Amino acid sequence: MAARIVQITDLHLMADPQGELKGVCTRANLQRVLDVLRRDFGSAELLIVSGDLAHDELLETYEVLREMLAEWLPKLRVIPGNHENRAFMRQVFGERVTAVDDRNVFADSIGGWRLIGLDSQLVGAVRGQLGESQCDWLASELAAEPLRPTGIFLHHPTLEVGTGWLDEIRVEDADLLHDLLTKHLQVKFVCAGHIHHETTVIQGDVLMLTTPATSVQFLPETDRLIPDPIPPGFRIFDLEADGSFRTRVVRVPMPSAP
Ligand SMILES: [Fe+2]
Repeated sequence: MAARIVQITDLHLMADPQGELKGVCTRANLQRVLDVLRRDFGSAELLIVSGDLAHDELLETYEVLREMLAEWLPKLRVIPGNHENRAFMRQVFGERVTAVDDRNVFADSIGGWRLIGLDSQLVGAVRGQLGESQCDWLASELAAEPLRPTGIFLHHPTLEVGTGWLDEIRVEDADLLHDLLTKHLQVKFVCAGHIHHETTVIQGDVLMLTTPATSVQFLPETDRLIPDPIPPGFRIFDLEADGSFRTRVVRVPMPSAP
């Protein structure tokens, strides 16, 4: 039977329960997404939150999020986005975060697969960076399990997706990762967030994905940030032990505003 995992991204939660980003109440959106996850995907084996957890980067906001995710804690993994405080993440999510140098990462084995989370935060910048020491760690993780199908999660996309202002804020040292992908052929997909819309690119034999935010959606192929009224969403993966997999985005319509 396939191992099912779920990715949510770009929560942009705020300490203020009514807090809005581009007219979207991020806490109400997240709650609705979590309601759907509980109802339809509660048996998933792993929930990955791929960055921009706390828009205001406050400790209080991480504590609110831990409470909202309480039922998922035993199978939760969190990695940072550009809106993040790494120390607060570690403080609040404890053993659900693995620290490598100062970066918050993870590496898990599920259903015959390896799932690895990277930390692409460049403190003080909107664009991302992986850094050589983190890529050395990734290389050793990949070299240790060369026959296991592997999926990688990170916040910032590494490829251009065709939207100029977003392409400028992708991972700046993406070649470090792309180089590893050519050497470690067990990597089947790389999945990001950050750009608040869904994209799919095939590079070599690797599926390069982005996942919609649980908060506001960005219209693709624009020259500036334009909110898209399409509902928020998340992504599921069904991972087969033979290395094949299925993935799809699930959209969560919001109750219409009063
Ligand atoms: Fe974001």
